[in-house]
Amino acid sequence: MKPRVILNAAMTLDGKIATKTGSSEISGEKDLIRVHKLRQECDAIMVGINTLLADNPRLTVHKISADPADNPIRVVVDSQARTPLNFRILSKEAPTIIAVSEKAPQERADNLLKKAEVIVCGKEKVDLDCLMENLGRRGVQTLMLEGGSTLNYSMLSAGLVHDLRVCVAPLIAGGSQAKTLVDGDGVEYMKDALRLRLKNSYTLNQDLILEYEVLN
Ligand SMILES: NC(=O)c1ccc[n+]([C@@H]2O[C@H](COP(=O)([O-])OP(=O)(O)OC[C@H]3O[C@@H](n4cnc5c(N)ncnc54)[C@H](OP(=O)(O)O)[C@@H]3O)[C@@H](O)[C@H]2O)c1
Repeated sequence: MKPRVILNAAMTLDGKIATKTGSSEISGEKDLIRVHKLRQECDAIMVGINTLLADNPRLTVHKISADPADNPIRVVVDSQARTPLNFRILSKEAPTIIAVSEKAPQERADNLLKKAEVIVCGKEKVDLDCLMENLGRRGVQTLMLEGGSTLNYSMLSAGLVHDLRVCVAPLIAGGSQAKTLVDGDGVEYMKDALRLRLKNSYTLNQDLILEYEVLN
């Protein structure tokens, strides 16, 4: 069975999740604590390779717990095994899975195998259905998707996302090149847009938290 996927992101009022230079410090400290609590409730956290390369995240729950046992599995969607070997995602503080495609150079995949588990799914890009099936078989029941825009679009358009949690910060970044919550090809007509149901909303200081369920 595939995991239940919660997409979580912080964005500016104009929907940007990073500036055109990739700067992405958006939400306040209280929201960061919320994110770490949500991570702790999930079995795994997943990001795309561009997010990894831009932010070098730890993807742990270190703001709320120092116990490595509380850290979920970390998953990187990385067709070509480009994850740098010195990045924090490969630290020993949590298990890491690198999902690659058949296109990944064998030598790079072998190097990653020394520090992480490597799953091959798909011929060119990572086949997300295959990856979700694989994670489900490993007992991953809930997965937190933490971007970026390209992976968010692929996961949403494949019908693999069940819930969204968005922090809207009181900021406007602008920039047609700046990444938004969801990029990708997009739909042609608004009637084809993905429909959501607002389940809950609240504020954390100046940040607005919105919780949605995906309907179709
Ligand atoms: N504010 C926030 O909450 C937040 C959260 C996360 C990220 N961000 C920001 O988002 C930016 C990165 O977003 P991004 O859109 O450039 O990249 P991304 O979604 O992080 O990564 C996309 C890459 O993943 C790989 N991939 C492999 N299989 C895929 C598939 N089936 N579908 C989609 N992607 C697949 C592709 O690279 P390969 O073909 O090389 O594998 C693709 O280019 C960064 O600036 C980061 O700071 C912000």
